[in-house]
Order: sequence, then structure tokens, then C-alpha cells
Amino acid sequence: MILFKKAADINNWLLKSKAAGKKTGFIPTMGALHQGHTSLIHASKQAGSISVCSIFVNPAQFNDANDFDNYPSTIEKDIDALEKAGCDVLFLPSVSEMYPAGMENAKNYDLGYLETVLEGKYRPGHFQGVCLVVHRLLNIIPANDLYLGQKDYQQCMVIKKLVELEKINTTIYICPTLRETSGLAMSSRNMRLTAEARKHALTIFETLSYLKNNIKPGDLTALKQTAIDSLTNAGFKVDYVEIADAGNLDIINHWNGNKKLVAVAAAFLGDVRLIDNMLL
Ligand code: PAF
Repeated sequence: MILFKKAADINNWLLKSKAAGKKTGFIPTMGALHQGHTSLIHASKQAGSISVCSIFVNPAQFNDANDFDNYPSTIEKDIDALEKAGCDVLFLPSVSEMYPAGMENAKNYDLGYLETVLEGKYRPGHFQGVCLVVHRLLNIIPANDLYLGQKDYQQCMVIKKLVELEKINTTIYICPTLRETSGLAMSSRNMRLTAEARKHALTIFETLSYLKNNIKPGDLTALKQTAIDSLTNAGFKVDYVEIADAGNLDIINHWNGNKKLVAVAAAFLGDVRLIDNMLL
């Protein structure tokens, strides 16, 4: 695996590889890698692309300074995992390399409704920060394909919108959420859970499964409330449990039985915020 720290160096290398007719598959990450991330590397390799992973804990997307300070960092292990997964290139930039002009006066992306609900509502500014970094990364790494995990359902929609807004010639692939045997969605933030908290954390998966198994056409208010109560009883502080239109994230309170839906949840266990979703 080749490691680049400078934007100009990786960009030159990739332009040469493109000129030689090779496709680039890009996997942006913030490190603390798990099998969910390596499954994205495998997907890009299966497509016959040069797989490029970036590790950059993006300060612009943290609306909570405490979350940024405590974000897990396991760089040696990450490099090892990437080598084992057969990743071809790692981009590991510094903050000044990513934001040479600073983060003030950053561009504002017109994300519309997507930025006002769920993660957008509970983490103001978060998606602007995600767009800022992904836009910059795609300028440095002109990828044919970009691989994302379904676990960050709303982020996938935001990045699709970014690519559309900025007319970026990159195809987005959404890969399934990987889960532990308990059902807990793999996440870098799981590393911050104590063994005791981990036992409770799987209640998010159980709650989403409950929604999937019990949804019926009609009013959904009572069903959603049962889900919120089950998380609260398991020790979570719930930001939201919602049922939304899977195509545009409109919140659905009354279901006609036809629309494709997704159940989404975000809740704190201690000071660790977990999110998950399930197509219904
Ligand atoms: O999902 C993440 O890890 C981050 O939001 C991303 C897409 C790498 C941007 O920093």
C-alpha cells in the first residue's frame, strides 16, 4: 500500500493512473476502522478499481467538541487492516493540508430539507462539514466510484446530493451495514462503549427490528412511542426514533402501506451517541 500525506502528491499519482486507464474506487473514513470499512475496500477491489482510502478526522463536521476530542484513533491498527484488506493507496492528510485556507468562510451547500431533519436537526452544521470535506477530498482524489456504508443513511443521501449539486463525475455505491453477531451495527464509536454498555447497545437493533416486524398501514404514532420507550428503558437518552420515506426522508406518521420506509434511530448511551437504521 502506498501512503500519501500531501494532496498534490496523491492527485498527481492518481491522474497518472487514470491516464493509464485505471479506475479509482474511493473509501473516505475517519479511521478507527472495522469490518464495515474493509467491506467497502473489498467492494471497490471487486469492481476492479485501484482502491483508495482516506483517514481524516474532519473537525468541520463535529458540532460537539467533546465528541471530536474523544473520537477514537487507532492509526497503526488501521494501516494493518488496510494492508490486509488489499487497499492500494492510503491518504492521511493533516488539517492544514485539507484546509490550507482554514475552515472559516467555507462554502455553503444547499442541502434543503435534508439538513433540517434527523441528524441535520440534532447535529446543526454537521452535514455542511461532511460536504466540505468530501468535496475537497473528491477534488484531490478524482474517483470514478465512491463507497459508503448504509449505516449512515442520511449521510449517503447528503453525499449523493453534493455530487449532484457540484456536478461531480463520481458514482456513489451504498453498501450494507455490517453487524456484530448480536445485531449491533459496526461503528467506530462502539470502541468507546464499556463491556456493560455494549450489552445494552444492541437494543437499538432490537428496536428497529421490532418496528420492522410490527408496522402496519395506518397511524404510526403509538408504534414509534413504544420504540422510544424500549430504548429509554434500556438506559438510552433518545434523540429520535422515526419512520421516514426511504427515498427522501419525509417523516411518516400515517402509512398507506405502499411507500418504501426506513426506520432511523439516534440515541446516547452514556456520552456515546449511536445511530442505526433499517429498511422496513
Ligand atoms: O462517515 C464518515 O466517516 C465521515 O462522515 C466521512 C464520510 C469520512 C467524511 O468525513
